[in-house]
Amino acid sequence: MGRIRVLPDQVANQIAAGEVVDRPASVVKELLENALDAGANRIRVEVEAGGRKLIRITDDGQGMNRDDALLAFERHATSKLRTVDDLLSIATLGFRGEALPSIASVARVTLETATGEEGAGTRVEIAGGKILHVDDAALPRGTTLAVADLFFNTPARRKFLRAESTELAHVTALVTHYALAHPEKHFVLLSATHTVLSAPPVARTAERIYQIFGKDTLAQLLPVAAELPLQRAGLPEPPPWKKDPAEPARNPGILRLTGFYSKPELQKLNRNSIYIFVNKRLIRDRLLLHAITEAYRNVIPPTSFPVVLLFLEMPPEEVDVNVHPAKTEVRFRQQSLIHDFVRDSLRTALIKARPSAGFLAALDSAPGASPSLMPPAASHLPGSPDAAPPLPQPDSDPAAFQTACADAEAFELTPRLPTPVPGKLSFGAESLHPGDWDGAKAWGEAAAALFQPASLPPAGDCSAGSSSATPCPGAEAALNPAAETALVEAEQAAANLNHLGSLRPLGQLRESFILATGDDGLWIIDQHVAHERILFEKILRDRQVEKVQRQRLLMPLLVELKPSQMVVFARIAEELEHNGFEVEPFGPHTLAVKASPVGLEGAALERMLAEVIEQSSADSDEPTQNHDLTALRTRIAASIACHAAIKVNTPLDPARMDWLLLELAKTSHPTSCPHGRPIALMYSWKEIQRAFHRI
Ligand SMILES: Nc1ncnc2c1ncn2[C@@H]1O[C@H](COP(=O)(O)OP(=O)(O)OP(=O)(O)O)[C@@H](O)[C@H]1O
Ligand SMILES: [Mg+2]
Repeated sequence: MGRIRVLPDQVANQIAAGEVVDRPASVVKELLENALDAGANRIRVEVEAGGRKLIRITDDGQGMNRDDALLAFERHATSKLRTVDDLLSIATLGFRGEALPSIASVARVTLETATGEEGAGTRVEIAGGKILHVDDAALPRGTTLAVADLFFNTPARRKFLRAESTELAHVTALVTHYALAHPEKHFVLLSATHTVLSAPPVARTAERIYQIFGKDTLAQLLPVAAELPLQRAGLPEPPPWKKDPAEPARNPGILRLTGFYSKPELQKLNRNSIYIFVNKRLIRDRLLLHAITEAYRNVIPPTSFPVVLLFLEMPPEEVDVNVHPAKTEVRFRQQSLIHDFVRDSLRTALIKARPSAGFLAALDSAPGASPSLMPPAASHLPGSPDAAPPLPQPDSDPAAFQTACADAEAFELTPRLPTPVPGKLSFGAESLHPGDWDGAKAWGEAAAALFQPASLPPAGDCSAGSSSATPCPGAEAALNPAAETALVEAEQAAANLNHLGSLRPLGQLRESFILATGDDGLWIIDQHVAHERILFEKILRDRQVEKVQRQRLLMPLLVELKPSQMVVFARIAEELEHNGFEVEPFGPHTLAVKASPVGLEGAALERMLAEVIEQSSADSDEPTQNHDLTALRTRIAASIACHAAIKVNTPLDPARMDWLLLELAKTSHPTSCPHGRPIALMYSWKEIQRAFHRI
């Protein structure tokens, strides 16, 4: 008898569950996606013990009839895909037909569902993959899936679950993400003790950001929108003999980007505040993370990360979502096009907006002020995940970068959690049914009365009507004015740096900072970093057209190097030459610098060379690849600029101050120096009036 056997379904499902379900948050993800695919407008998620004991998701989507309700738990049973060709253009979040059977094989599941058409609904109970009961039940349209005792039959898995608060934080992160991607839908997340998140429908993403993260975060974000008509479709055209001549030529479609990005002053220690959605699917993607980092290169320090919410829309054929069991990774069919589109759109938006930093924001902006979107004061709240360590840089250690990205919990998002108040609300006994929104309202009111979370605006009256594609009136009234103000303030602040050229310098503060007035307020400009930014952009421009101005030194400057430094020098010598250096070996350990870029000499020249060699020694590879070469070029330009720029404690006459401001206004990033420090701070007229109690 042979030794090979086909595994029973139950075992196969548990194996699949290993890939799809690894913690309560992944169950929530699958069920949320099912609810969204079913066209739900209201989704309520309830969890007990961080989801270990119970996860219950109620939606008002299309529901299932009795046959479908049973079939849904079969492996590879799906309503979303029929042929292999459908795989090439998936427009739903799910498509594998694996989630429900996988979840049902490792938990006790109760499904209650009804289509609303036939009157009756269906109730199915399954435990460890075995159907226990199937009954008819009178239910309103929609679906409730309760998943209890996760991993009750796989103790090894159970052991890997973390503390309840950690699991709850992961669930919260997930629900928050989906709430961000679908502002027009109503999301509620309840734990056994409190309302963790309540997001009634709103019209715009900005309002959703305001609902979830509050006014301060919204005020530090700027909107971005761009689109690119695709030149060709990502999928290859069929060969001419297979092509139906009657078929119209395929329209390659449009690539669209919308979202929000942070001003340079808002910096995070890790990538956890970068959220990427492709066709409303939450994903983590190395390519796009890299594009975002590139957009911020030399605007924020290389060790800091921005806050970015990016929504990419593209024809479904342009992205292969079938590359990861949990569907959190995707593959773009036109990778570099999408990478460059994201990088350039963000970069252009940054250049155009020229966001300026206010005094208070700048004080808070040191990277590390808060590791993710969570305000610092809230970081000790139960359920807040620990800050993840910063990821290695792609250019310094590609291998480590790759693994770290794979491991990184890019979905770690820490929304403001309302402060929990002791007391337990029961939601075990009286189960709320999908259409029972009056019940939900009562529950919501009870919860609201108990908790009154400061950071969450009161939930609007959403009981009227079940279609919530339009914002509910209560939510509108409660939300819009403040969200609007935050947006308007952000937009006003964003325009400020465009007026740099028309500022009137008043003088210097300690011969280090230029004081200037404009219509919008009082400005303080750091003379060193302002000049540094001007020089940096000029050097990069000149280098591009091979026009870097060099000066011949009266006496060659002799620089001693260690053997390891000599190796690094040999690697970057050619690029240095393009930047105005003329350097020759002068014995085994010494270099003779005969010419240097204009403005750089003596001790500053020596320090600059030492700095570039030191920074470049971290690169292990030859700078052959385009990317490394760009990094080296910007590094050299930043270093020359820094050492050649006007120092602090240097008196400047009015003409030089004028020149500095005018030149600064012409740069593409007058906001921050190439190392990410702010250049100009404004004390706005409004702030001044407020400080003097005039308004
Ligand atoms: N909340 C829901 N409302 C209506 N139908 C649902 C719901 N959840 C699941 N279904 C139905 O059950 C089927 C199986 O769900 P399941 O999540 O297992 O697979 P899928 O969503 O098709 O694919 P994937 O495994 O990629 O999630 C779905 O195709 C859908 O028809
Ligand atoms: Mg699914």
